Amino acid sequence: MNLEKRKYVKDALNEKDNSKVVVAGWVEKIKSMGNINFINLRDRTGVLQIVSQRFKEINKLTPESVIVASGIMKKGQKKSGEKELLLEDFEVMNKAETPLPIDLVQDTTQIDKRINNRFLDARNPKVNAIFRIRSEIFKAIVDFFSEEGFININTPKITSSGVESGAELFEVKYFNKGAYLSQSPQIYKQMMVAAGFEKVYEIGPVFRAEKSRTVRHLTEFTGVDMEMGFIESEDDVMDVVERMMKYIIRHTTAKCEYELDTLNIELKIPNKIPRIKMKEVKLMLDKCGKKLGEEDDLDSEAEKLIGEIVKEKYNSEFVFVTDYPWSKRPFYHMKPKNNKNSTKSFDLIFNGTEIATGAQREHRYEILKQQGKEKGVNLDSIKGYKDIFRFGCPTHGGVGLGLDRIVQCLLKLDNIRESILFPRDPDRLSP
Ligand code: 4AD
Ligand code: MG
Repeated sequence: MNLEKRKYVKDALNEKDNSKVVVAGWVEKIKSMGNINFINLRDRTGVLQIVSQRFKEINKLTPESVIVASGIMKKGQKKSGEKELLLEDFEVMNKAETPLPIDLVQDTTQIDKRINNRFLDARNPKVNAIFRIRSEIFKAIVDFFSEEGFININTPKITSSGVESGAELFEVKYFNKGAYLSQSPQIYKQMMVAAGFEKVYEIGPVFRAEKSRTVRHLTEFTGVDMEMGFIESEDDVMDVVERMMKYIIRHTTAKCEYELDTLNIELKIPNKIPRIKMKEVKLMLDKCGKKLGEEDDLDSEAEKLIGEIVKEKYNSEFVFVTDYPWSKRPFYHMKPKNNKNSTKSFDLIFNGTEIATGAQREHRYEILKQQGKEKGVNLDSIKGYKDIFRFGCPTHGGVGLGLDRIVQCLLKLDNIRESILFPRDPDRLSP
């Protein structure tokens, strides 16, 4: 059959009565009433009912087979007046075996088995909707950075060293040398600010050798990283992150009405996102019975709790927690003028989950060297890093966000594995 004439279901449904069309897609359901057969045909745009009285072979079709069908569009029996296709001819492109390994209709299959059969699982309209929305979020981020004058960069994912915690590095064999998978484009984005681009961003894979078996950790995720020069403080970085979150939500609301409906999600554009110092956050948590020491980081329970508190107090799904203790931040975060134990840093928490970490960076070489010493990091051991600061480096700061976490939190998915097609974790290396 001629695929050149193929119409998407959505367009076929808008054809005039009696128009001849060719459609193609997956057999979602087959039903017989007397000697009339009905097929629900699904393609990427929707579902069309096909009606036939002539073809006995239809009874032999299996669910999820791929067919090409031609016929005449007619007003159907449904109250909605939705058109259906009176079948004139059809071809089976690929017959699906039975039974299917997972349940697409009631989606009762557990997540592990669904991911093992992701290509089938993604035919489920709800799963499909998540990844279409993810695609639009990706586009929104690119559009946003581009409109704000950021330059896109791509940096190596095979590296000789990292600047984040050494414990999270995956080692790879690189000919006769040791190398690591990149755990952050941190060095390179700082380099490119110093290179004169001033504002850069990258969306790319990030690898973390964390043996965390949680609903929010992966060993490979998509990082959204940016770095900007000539800032006055970390507030300038938070301003950009705040505008970006609003942009993403506005764009997704406008472009994904059908998908959001499918998932029963209503998005809300945030008002001003509150910025609360860590000290104050700890006082708020203390009042709710969660005690943390001065040097403690927020654990996942604390993040969840502070998410609930700001929702109640500020009617906000987002909160910037600022001024993290120096003991919990990497050596390159800048310290404020009058406090050696704090940093000019922040995390963004969205509905109780961290989605971003950022800071103003220390750009003064002598101070940076000293901070490295305090953390036991020898700047000379990170190839090319110290030179960034020796030959003309403006004040700068940046942030790293996790795309998978953004999708997870925006769509209120209970497991990060729902927001990435092929998750990697300590137990999973395929498909
Ligand atoms: O908080 P992280 O580790 O910060 C950095 O990588 C810094 N270089 C960022 C900076 O510019 N200062 O990672 C950034 C974000 C987290 O907030 C989280 O959204 C995501 O990346 N992330 C993970 N997502 C999934 N699985 C993991 N194991 C993740 N680790 C971090
Ligand atoms: Mg972090």
